[in-house]
Amino acid sequence: MPTRHAPSGRLLYAQSGGVTAVINATAAGVIEAARAKGVKVYAARNGILGALREDLIDTSKESKAAVAALRHTPGGAFGSCRYKLKSLEANRAEYERLIEVFRAHDIRWFLYNGGNDSADTALKLSQIGKAMGYELACIGVPKTVDNDLAVTDCCPGFGSVAKYTAVSTLEASLDVASMAETSTKVFILEVMGRHAGWIAAAAGLAGAGADAPPHLILFPENVFDEAAFLAKVKATVERVGWCTVVASEGIRNAQGQFLADAGTRDAFGHVQLGGVAPTLAALVKQKLGYKYHWALPDYLQRSARHCASKVDAEQAWAVGKAAVDYALVGMNAVMPVIVRSSDAPYRWKIEPAPLAKIANREKKLPKGFMTRDGFGITAAARRYLAPLIAGEAPLPYGRDGLPNYVQLKNAAVAKKLAAWTPER
Ligand code: F6P
Repeated sequence: MPTRHAPSGRLLYAQSGGVTAVINATAAGVIEAARAKGVKVYAARNGILGALREDLIDTSKESKAAVAALRHTPGGAFGSCRYKLKSLEANRAEYERLIEVFRAHDIRWFLYNGGNDSADTALKLSQIGKAMGYELACIGVPKTVDNDLAVTDCCPGFGSVAKYTAVSTLEASLDVASMAETSTKVFILEVMGRHAGWIAAAAGLAGAGADAPPHLILFPENVFDEAAFLAKVKATVERVGWCTVVASEGIRNAQGQFLADAGTRDAFGHVQLGGVAPTLAALVKQKLGYKYHWALPDYLQRSARHCASKVDAEQAWAVGKAAVDYALVGMNAVMPVIVRSSDAPYRWKIEPAPLAKIANREKKLPKGFMTRDGFGITAAARRYLAPLIAGEAPLPYGRDGLPNYVQLKNAAVAKKLAAWTPER
């Protein structure tokens, strides 16, 4: 039998930004594909911070079964972070430190699993590697529940949050409808999606037709119009007897202010959101006098592996595998993106796309996906969204009734360098 030589060097994988129900499926895709090629995978603890701190994890210490169990375990198994690398001019030392860590551990491929900010980080690193004469391939791996990455048809993580949102909207609506005559008349669900209304739109899959829930969807792409909102809630309660509203956390008033600004900002300068549902509920009570309930699923929505979409879980694994394939054939500064060739039957494939076309861009919900009154989704939106929530992804349960989620060993790689002191 011919001897197969493993490519020389190690591959570093890191998770970045808000985690999802299926980001670990991508990690499984990366590790399984690299193992099949005889390449050792290190993971950075807490995203790029782990790389800066030389806090690396040796995934070869994990059993085959543990890696396979990542496919059904939510959260970020190696830890994630929100940490923005400054521009090369503003903080060259940070980039040099990363290359120093990569050189010390013979890391030749860097896979960064995140959204548009992370694509930017991967792109910058690919450039600095070249500028410093260090041979390094950087691949961005798509992930975001917000579904707002450019170029790719959809983002791993979105299909599952979309399914959770559609199912929860349907279930809560059955509850509200049961007691509307004597109790709650308005139910408001707040969903994630900072600037793009993809998750809110997915709630629309819960029902079709004027009387089916959700009766109103509030998209961040539209300016919040208080009078139109109240008029539609009132008309729905009078006609149907109750009303379900789904609101994106990112809706803004005519002055451009978020209705749900919690007042804090993350490392990227993003406003922390949360609290639009109680604001809307108070308005409904004050102006219309209806009894209400509201819910803010917050992290529940993006971690709900028990309600994951099969398509999403499969795509999450596939982009991880493709990222390894691309890296090992020498591609650089690209991202494996999902390309749709047909809605029904749903057909998709994965192709490489330049990070430069993805970094720092945001894909909003197209106008043609929102109904003319701005409160619902169109048939085109249904055609796009429906396949993404299709199917259930297997989740093994234990005798205690809880899912068998894996806890990795996360064995540390011995450090070789002096400790890193941030300049910021
Ligand atoms: O990563 C996307 C996202 O889930 C947004 O929809 C949400 O606004 C944000 O992350 C929350 O971020 P964090 O967990 O850092 O507060």
